[in-house]
Amino acid sequence: MPAARSAFGPVRWALLSLLILSVFSHPVAGFGAAKKACMREKVRKILGPKLFFFSFFGTILVFDNPQDLDVPLAESKLTCAMSKSLLFLHDELKPLTKTFTDSLSELGNLKLEFLPQNYKGSALSLIESLSSLVVLGNFTEFQRGVLWLSDNLTFDVDARVNLFECNIRVLGGLISAHILATDTKSRLDHGLYKNQLLNLAEDLGQRFLPAFESPTGLPYAWINLKNGVMENETTETSTSGCGSLILEMGALTRLTGDSRYEAVALRALRKLWSMRSSLNLLGTTLDVVTGEWIEYSSGIGAGVDSFYEYLIKAYILFGSDEYWDIFHSAYLAVQKYFRHGPWYHEADMRTGRATYWQLTSLQAFWPGLQILVGDIAAANSSHREFFHVWQRFGVLPESCMRIL
Ligand SMILES: *[C@@H]1O[C@H](CO)[C@@H](O)[C@H](O)[C@H]1NC(C)=O
Ligand SMILES: *[C@@H]1O[C@H](CO)[C@@H](O)[C@H](O)[C@H]1NC(C)=O
Ligand SMILES: *[C@@H]1O[C@H](CO)[C@@H](O)[C@H](O)[C@H]1NC(C)=O
Ligand SMILES: *[C@@H]1O[C@H](CO)[C@@H](O)[C@H](O)[C@H]1NC(C)=O
Repeated sequence: MPAARSAFGPVRWALLSLLILSVFSHPVAGFGAAKKACMREKVRKILGPKLFFFSFFGTILVFDNPQDLDVPLAESKLTCAMSKSLLFLHDELKPLTKTFTDSLSELGNLKLEFLPQNYKGSALSLIESLSSLVVLGNFTEFQRGVLWLSDNLTFDVDARVNLFECNIRVLGGLISAHILATDTKSRLDHGLYKNQLLNLAEDLGQRFLPAFESPTGLPYAWINLKNGVMENETTETSTSGCGSLILEMGALTRLTGDSRYEAVALRALRKLWSMRSSLNLLGTTLDVVTGEWIEYSSGIGAGVDSFYEYLIKAYILFGSDEYWDIFHSAYLAVQKYFRHGPWYHEADMRTGRATYWQLTSLQAFWPGLQILVGDIAAANSSHREFFHVWQRFGVLPESCMRIL
C-alpha cells in the first residue's frame, strides 16, 4: 500500500462525510444572502474546485462506505486496461476480454449515424481514468498516462462527436487531470509536467467553438472535430446539451485566460433560460436555429438532468449570483410541478400538468444535488425511494412506470 494513498484517501473520505453530515441542514427556500454565501464557502473549502471536474461518468469515485472499497481490485482493473500502451488510444478498453471499441462518435448517437471511417479512438478510457489513478494514489501510472497522451493524442480527427458527451468526458477529464497534475506536481518526476493536458484541453475547446455559431448562440449537438459543424447537421438538441457546458468551458477560460470558452457557454445558458415558461420550467428538446421548443414535456432525467447540476456547481465554483438565481428559480419549479411525494414525474412546461409518470435511472442524481443545496429532507425521502427500487429489482431500471 503506497504511502501516497493512505495519506490522500482518508482525508477525502472524511471531507465528504463532513460535507454530508454537518454542513447543510436547512431547506432551500429558507436561504438568505448570508446563508447562501456561507454555504458556498463551506462547499468550496471542503471540496475545493477539483471534485467538479472529475468527468461526469467515468471517473468520480465516491463510495458510501470507503472501507468496503477493494482498492487493489479497483486499481488493478484500471491499470490492467492501461498496461498495453498500444491500446491506449482506443476509446473504451475492455480489460477482461482485452478488446476495445472506438465509440466516442457513438455516444448519444442512438441511430449510429455518420460514424467515422478511419477513426482509431481518442483515448476515452485513459482520459476518464486519469483522476481515478490520482485518487487511488498511483502516481507512476498517472504520469505514464499523462506522458502518453502528450505524445500521442490528437483531436485533429475526422469524427463527428456529441458536444455534450465530449465535453463532460474528454474536456472534463483533461481539465480534472490537469488540475490534479499541477496540484500533485511534487509526486511526478521533476519538470515533466508542463501543462500538456491543459494544451490538449485548449485544443479541444477551440474545436468546440464552431458549434456555438448558430443564430441563437445555442450550440449544435454535433460537431466534427476536424471540420466543424457538418453542412446538413441536425438543429435539434436537448436542454442538457445547451446547459451543461459552463463548468468545463468556464474552467478552461480561467485556466488559459482565453475568455471565449466561458463566454459562449454562458451565452448559451442565458439563452436557454430565457426560453423558460412563465412557470420557470424548460422543455427537453429544442431547435438551435429557431430557438423554439420541440418537446415541451420535461422532468429531471434524461435530456435535462445536468442542466440543474451544472447551475448549482457553477455557482459553487465561480461564485456568480446569476447561477444561483437561475438555479433557485428552476429548483423551486421542479419541486412544485414535478414532485409527487418522494417521486418526480414529467410535466408540460407550459401548464405544469403531469405528462409521464415514470421513474428513470438518470433521475437518481437528484438527491445528491439536494444534499449540495441543503434540502436534506427532500434528499432523504427521494434517495430512500430510489434505494427501495434498487433493493427490489437489484438495479435501477432505465425507466419504469409508477403505478399510483
Ligand atoms: C501502479 O499501477 C501499476 C500497473 O498496475 C502497478 O504495476 C504499480 O505497482 C502501481 N503502483 C502503485 C504505487 O500502486
Ligand atoms: C506513444 O505511443 C506509442 C505507441 O503506443 C508508444 O510506443 C510511445 O511510448 C507513446 N509515447 C509516450 C510518451 O508514452
Ligand atoms: C444534405 O442533405 C441533402 C438531403 O438529404 C443531401 O442531398 C445532400 O447531399 C446533403 N449535403 C451534405 C453536404 O451532406
Ligand atoms: C430520513 O428519513 C427517515 C424516515 O423518514 C428518518 O427516520 C430519518 O431520520 C431521516 N434522516 C434525515 C437526516 O432527515
